[in-house]
Amino acid sequence: MMAADQTVHGVPSSLSAKVVGSFAYLTVRDRLPTILTKVIDTIHRNKNKFFEEYGEEGIQAEKQTIALLSKMRNELQTDKPVLALRDTLQDTEYWNQYLQKQQKLQGDEESVSWFKSPWLYVECYMYRRVQEALWLNPPISDYDVFNEGKTQSFFESQQAMMALCTYLEGVNKNMEDLSKNQLLEHFNKLLQVSLWGNKCDLSISAGQDNSQKTSPIDSLNSLQPFILVNDSNMVWSTLISAQKPGQSEKTTAVRVDIVLDNAGFELFTDLVLADFLVSSGLAHEVHFHGKSIPWFVSDVTANDFQWTIQQTMAANHKWMSKNGVQWKSHLKEGVWFYHDHRFWTQPHEFCDMAMDAPDLYATLQGADLLLFKGDLNYRKLTGDRDWDYTVGFSTALRGFGPAPLCSLRTLKANVQVGLQPGQGEKLGSQDPDWMTSGKYAVIQFYSSKSEQKD
Ligand code: F6P
Ligand code: MG
Repeated sequence: MMAADQTVHGVPSSLSAKVVGSFAYLTVRDRLPTILTKVIDTIHRNKNKFFEEYGEEGIQAEKQTIALLSKMRNELQTDKPVLALRDTLQDTEYWNQYLQKQQKLQGDEESVSWFKSPWLYVECYMYRRVQEALWLNPPISDYDVFNEGKTQSFFESQQAMMALCTYLEGVNKNMEDLSKNQLLEHFNKLLQVSLWGNKCDLSISAGQDNSQKTSPIDSLNSLQPFILVNDSNMVWSTLISAQKPGQSEKTTAVRVDIVLDNAGFELFTDLVLADFLVSSGLAHEVHFHGKSIPWFVSDVTANDFQWTIQQTMAANHKWMSKNGVQWKSHLKEGVWFYHDHRFWTQPHEFCDMAMDAPDLYATLQGADLLLFKGDLNYRKLTGDRDWDYTVGFSTALRGFGPAPLCSLRTLKANVQVGLQPGQGEKLGSQDPDWMTSGKYAVIQFYSSKSEQKD
């Protein structure tokens, strides 16, 4: 049997906490237990609420959920084997099959455990086990343990959101008079705002405040040198060449899908970008893809998505509330769509999607452009493997490409491809944390039509 950490046919091993001192190791050793402790604390703090809602049953559920989570934290910290799931959710069977697959890959001598298995797998598994602990305690099954942090991050970014809405209003008001170059300039700005919005996730900071306090437009120039790969011209040309004038309404609709990452400020920047895409006519439909369960602390669920739009509508700021109303109407009128699919909360690399979630793959094939937000999506696009920095993005995608796609990601994990020779080494010597600090970013594009990037 092939060991999971070997390079097979040029495909490098998965990142793993097995490598002592690596970012994966430090995440599993320090960050994940901290996140679990916060989850436990949140559930405990809400004890009275559960009692008010469900009486004694709520208190029992609180206790049992905490007991399950503490047990998991102990399994993690003592590197115990990863256990099969015991709940009855839609994807339980998939997870348990995946565990068997991992066991086969690792061989029978060593069990699949927290520190010895692929980091991507165990990290996803931890969030799925949090869901299991809640699910096994029915009155509080639907409780989102990360909700408090997500709402707080939304409120703490209000100033930045207002500044963004004022900017968007200025653009939308003059849309008719904009030259193509001016349109391109606004497009680049809003794409970069959405890119840097990804700095604000709560998983990298183990739940600490990570909101946006300053005007996002004003900081763009100074952030420019930190974009290591910038393929935005290809994103733009993809949108331009997708315009099919003169055909019937149905065939001319340009569709952009945004695979969302974090709630709070990042989601807001994605909604602003989507608003601009529609108001400029660059896209006619935007499909958002979120998570079906609370995930990686701050990722967007259907509830977060709806809540954000409600809050935007209710804001005490003229342009912000105007945007909220507009966004609600986009959803109602079938201009914007929100989807979730269990595949997004499974541990698979995206190159497995065509096989493991063919329905989702087919949905994505309907897009003219796919925008993948954030670090976790990048890890899944590239398989979270130990690639050389100069390997082409298309090589790392390993056949994944339902439509032209672009990753908008700040670097928060040590996987990076598509760099110039020497670029990664130079960064490493100047700034040892360059891959994990969220200070650097990429706008990285791939299309099977062009294959320019390899
Ligand atoms: O815990 C590590 C991690 O997966 C990192 O890759 C990243 O810091 C974070 O969690 C998720 O980041 P993002 O919200 O950008 O996907
Ligand atoms: Mg996230």
